[in-house]
Amino acid sequence: MLSKEIAKLLNEQVNKELYSAYLYLGMSCYYEEENLAGFANWFMVQTQEERDHAMLFLRYLQNNGEKVELENVLAEKVAYDGYDQPLAKTMEHERTVTASINNIYAAALAEKDFRTTQFLDWFIKEQGEEEKNADDLIKKFKLFGNDPKGLYLLDSELAARVYAAPSLVLD
Ligand code: FEO
Repeated sequence: MLSKEIAKLLNEQVNKELYSAYLYLGMSCYYEEENLAGFANWFMVQTQEERDHAMLFLRYLQNNGEKVELENVLAEKVAYDGYDQPLAKTMEHERTVTASINNIYAAALAEKDFRTTQFLDWFIKEQGEEEKNADDLIKKFKLFGNDPKGLYLLDSELAARVYAAPSLVLD
């Protein structure tokens, strides 16, 4: 059984991950409209990963007999003004997600809820990868994004990203 506080934080995280999926879906649509199909693909795969994250938190709650409380997930009305803007937003957003997961981890540790810290270990590592991915994108865009040929090649590279199911599996 989870404490009320941990269940509340995990519920909030379900919604935060769904928000992440929605945020990246918006970015994917933006790039599609700009005819950058590779960037659009990259963010579509990101959307699928965020949905997986939400489902993992949801399943963990259910496996512990907790009620899942879904909230409204609001779309962010952002008019991106430049191809690099969603990339910077991605980095900023992933840092807030890392902080949120660290916060749940700290709360679970304070309660000696080691089941939850063990569950969160996968997400701690995943957030390291998420921030690195965002950082790599920003660096590549800085190097190649402002030259049409470079942008074309970068878009082609991002078109190759394929969805892979998460390595964490909950029954
Ligand atoms: Fe669910 Fe991008 O972290």
